Amino acid sequence: MAAWASLLSSALLWLTLLSFGGKANGESTFGAVRITSLVPSLGCSPSKAPGHSSLPVVQRNGPCAAKSVSKPNHLQSLAQDSLRVASLQEIVSGVSRGNDTVLLGSQISIPARSGLYLGTGNYVITVGFGTPTKSQTVIFDTGSNVNWIQCKPCLVSCYSQQEPLFDPLLSSTYRNVTCAASACLELTSRGCSGTTCLYGVTYGDGSSTVGFLAIDTFTLTSTKVFSNFIFGCGQNNRGLFRGAAGLIGLGRSPYSLNSQTASSLGNIFSYCLPSTSSSTGYLNIGNPLRTTVAYTPMITDSRAPTLYFIDLVGITVGGTRLELSPTVFQSVGTIIDSGTVITRLPPAAYSALRTAFRAAMTQYPLAPAASILDTCYDFRNSATLTYPVIKLLYTNLEVTLPATGVFYVISSAQVCLAFAGNSDSSQIGIIGNVQQRTFEVTHDNIANRIGFSAGACS
Ligand SMILES: *[C@@H]1O[C@H](CO)[C@@H](O)[C@H](O)[C@H]1NC(C)=O
Ligand SMILES: *[C@@H]1O[C@H](CO)[C@@H](O)[C@H](O)[C@H]1NC(C)=O
Repeated sequence: MAAWASLLSSALLWLTLLSFGGKANGESTFGAVRITSLVPSLGCSPSKAPGHSSLPVVQRNGPCAAKSVSKPNHLQSLAQDSLRVASLQEIVSGVSRGNDTVLLGSQISIPARSGLYLGTGNYVITVGFGTPTKSQTVIFDTGSNVNWIQCKPCLVSCYSQQEPLFDPLLSSTYRNVTCAASACLELTSRGCSGTTCLYGVTYGDGSSTVGFLAIDTFTLTSTKVFSNFIFGCGQNNRGLFRGAAGLIGLGRSPYSLNSQTASSLGNIFSYCLPSTSSSTGYLNIGNPLRTTVAYTPMITDSRAPTLYFIDLVGITVGGTRLELSPTVFQSVGTIIDSGTVITRLPPAAYSALRTAFRAAMTQYPLAPAASILDTCYDFRNSATLTYPVIKLLYTNLEVTLPATGVFYVISSAQVCLAFAGNSDSSQIGIIGNVQQRTFEVTHDNIANRIGFSAGACS
């Protein structure tokens, strides 16, 4: 009751101030939020599933993950987020990270290009492989294109995972893919063992997987079951996948999950990432669950054709558009990524955003910077906080961020603006997952558009 009363009085105060400021134009330029609503609780409060055709999504290291991991180290997570960003920048700029070799036993080695850094910002879903179906909890990542899970007999190595390891011998529908199959020939890193196709993937943190390319039945949900799904059956798996059985790629390549299910579901998927790690969201393959979705074009960029580019053109803070030409964003381009946490902006754009945001937040004491986040506040003396509304302006679309899309909470003494600047104006912008939370974000690869629908999960 008290919290609501103070929320109301604070909102009324701002309404009064706004009308004095002469800014009120029917749209709210300031938001108010209870600090406690931004902080994850210790337990998991799952959101109601929006329908039996979608999969619950949980943050990998939060209380809703089946394998609970110790409290996240925010500074470490932010440092790892920077490594993911660096690996995306390298992919786009075409700088080669060189080649690794992944081994399948002492006899077989496959050259594999050092790849994307997975970071800590990923989300997991639980899907089924084989007949009868076996549940496996996997990371999903819009920046990845190869699907894989660890497989028995783990010829070389498997790390420990949450569910029992997938055993091809117990699946009546499992087959190896042959070296001559087009699915094998399209792999960037491949090899052969007899006639069996071998795949290999390395990640930027040194983790890797190598094994047989396989084809089997894949169960998304009880109503969405796919025979002939192609994935890697990992026999030498190394890394910090934190108990996940493997990874599902949602990139723009022929063998990502969305491409393989395109003939029945269309090459379209949507997800809602939860507002905090103590709630759940969903992943849905097929048409979005929401009926009201506003779209902006999905752009294909020849520098990295499997990544999702989006046409960010401007930003408003507290109702005022930052004085930035759209070319500040467009000359380098922007991608939207499920596995990057904090949105990265060109240096000029971040600098303008920070200046405007700080100017509207002078009533709160500044707190020390946290890693890449340089605009942090101490809210220990405030039950509610009022903040200037931030809108991301895309071609044909304005996205108003909720409070959970503006702040990264380390503690009530250190609540930070969840944006960072690139170090160089030639680096691409990245829309990170903090700024996607609670929206149903649709990736429509048929109409080539990206959609947002607000308030889709809590
Ligand atoms: C990596 O391997 C590929 C394919 O074998 C080759 O074309 C490329 O030149 C190699 N790159 C480096 C840096 O060795
Ligand atoms: C798949 O290929 C590997 C390597 O050739 C082999 O050991 C395994 O038995 C094969 N599995 C099936 C089900 O054919």
